[in-house]
Amino acid sequence: TYVIALPCVDVLDKACIEECPVDCIYEGERMLYIHPDECVDCGACEPVCPVEAIYYEDDVPEQWKQYYDVNVDFFNELGSPGGASKIGKQNFDHPVVAALPPQAE
Ligand code: F3S
Ligand code: F3S
Repeated sequence: TYVIALPCVDVLDKACIEECPVDCIYEGERMLYIHPDECVDCGACEPVCPVEAIYYEDDVPEQWKQYYDVNVDFFNELGSPGGASKIGKQNFDHPVVAALPPQAE
């Protein structure tokens, strides 16, 4: 799967959403999350993110390794909705993200 990391927090550019053929990039309050089972590893989202927040799971930079779990665990309650657009924005974040101070530009 691909993973969205810290640089997305409080940016939410959303260019990635347009690229995903399976609509598996879900919106939380402060960042977006990729569904680990719904992502087909097409990689189309990765180059379009202006802040380079998206990585293949094996390529996540060391300092953001925990974002693999952040993406996976975001779906503990949601399960596998099978499409982000139909459920829309969620009004919560993974606890790790919710606890972050506001991220500057
Ligand atoms: Fe976030 Fe980049 Fe997508 S900032 S919303 S991962 S384009
Ligand atoms: Fe979609 Fe990116 Fe995966 S475009 S299928 S989330 S690699």
